[in-house]
Amino acid sequence: MRHKVTLIPGEGIGPEVAAATRRILEAAGVQIDWEEIEGRTDKTTERGQLVNQLAVESVRKNHVALKGPMATAIAGGAPSVNVALRKTLDLYANLRPVKNLPGVKSHFDNVDLIIVRENTEDLYSGLEHEVVPGVVESLKIITEKASTRIGRFAFEYAKRHSRKRIHAIHKANIMKLSDGLFLRSVRAVAAQFPEIEYKELIVDNACMQIVMDPQQFDVLLLPNLYGDVMSDLAAGLVGGLGVVPSANIGDDCAMFEAVHGTAPDIAGKGFANPTALLMSSILMLDHLGERTTARRIEVALEKVYHEAKHTTRDVGGPAGTDEFAEAVIAALPPK
Ligand code: NAI
Repeated sequence: MRHKVTLIPGEGIGPEVAAATRRILEAAGVQIDWEEIEGRTDKTTERGQLVNQLAVESVRKNHVALKGPMATAIAGGAPSVNVALRKTLDLYANLRPVKNLPGVKSHFDNVDLIIVRENTEDLYSGLEHEVVPGVVESLKIITEKASTRIGRFAFEYAKRHSRKRIHAIHKANIMKLSDGLFLRSVRAVAAQFPEIEYKELIVDNACMQIVMDPQQFDVLLLPNLYGDVMSDLAAGLVGGLGVVPSANIGDDCAMFEAVHGTAPDIAGKGFANPTALLMSSILMLDHLGERTTARRIEVALEKVYHEAKHTTRDVGGPAGTDEFAEAVIAALPPK
């Protein structure tokens, strides 16, 4: 079957890792017509360069996108194009599987957990203002609708993928109203899935538990900010941002992207690691129903890591982006 997919190569190392990923997918024989488009408009407004509406339209039309990283200015400048894309397309669930790769140096073995992060509200609402000089306010928005929706997504995902346990992560002891609403909404969903064990943990304790004993976790369900922080923390347990994928999923569209950023320190040098985007594309193939090809690429990727002859510098190997991509292609099992 042929698929039409929007490709947003992104910035910095984005185009390099996107090209390598595309080459591997094509070599694996999956039939994709790529619609390549910039994520950011080339026009500068008084708020900086904003999200490209044509990219939004393209994802709406094709329903699936593969996206490279895009830069965001710190403490000022234009709002994040990444956040704008997720919000505009209502990609409310951010899914981040965190698993060891053979041969990648990490603090733990046998980590295999799924992070489900609410992607549309919380402190990422972008509602900030100066109350009086020297005092600013940033609004944390939590709604019953979004909390129930992400809760349902997590439980349905757990059921579909034979996951046994969900931990909801919160700080409802302090933010009694906002995180309290998140918890109450999730508890109501949990009651409909008695076959899945449901537990709750306060976020600071959860951070301590995950760095001491990550194997106890199966699925973690979090509001936006805690989800952002804990998913990078979890990536650090298995080798870092270069080796974990992510998916942003809504009811109508899905966008698959690496967790890492544009890596300006190594952009254009030819040694960026495409593993995270390639793993995200494996999630995309599963989403498209191309499960056999997804597993073949997974097998090839694990073989390259196991042999450790053609891995990239960030994971201790000697290879550049192209050599790594060629090695994965050579390791693809026959159809
Ligand atoms: P970063 O992830 O770009 O880089 C952190 C470190 O990891 C750097 O040393 C970099 O060289 C290395 N690294 C990252 N990805 C790598 C890869 N694939 N292969 C080898 N090494 C890799 O994080 P940073 O520096 O905080 O952010 C840079 C820019 O990216 C910022 O403008 C930020 O806003 C943006 N960003 C975008 C994201 C997205 O589009 N989803 C996510 C995170 C950051």
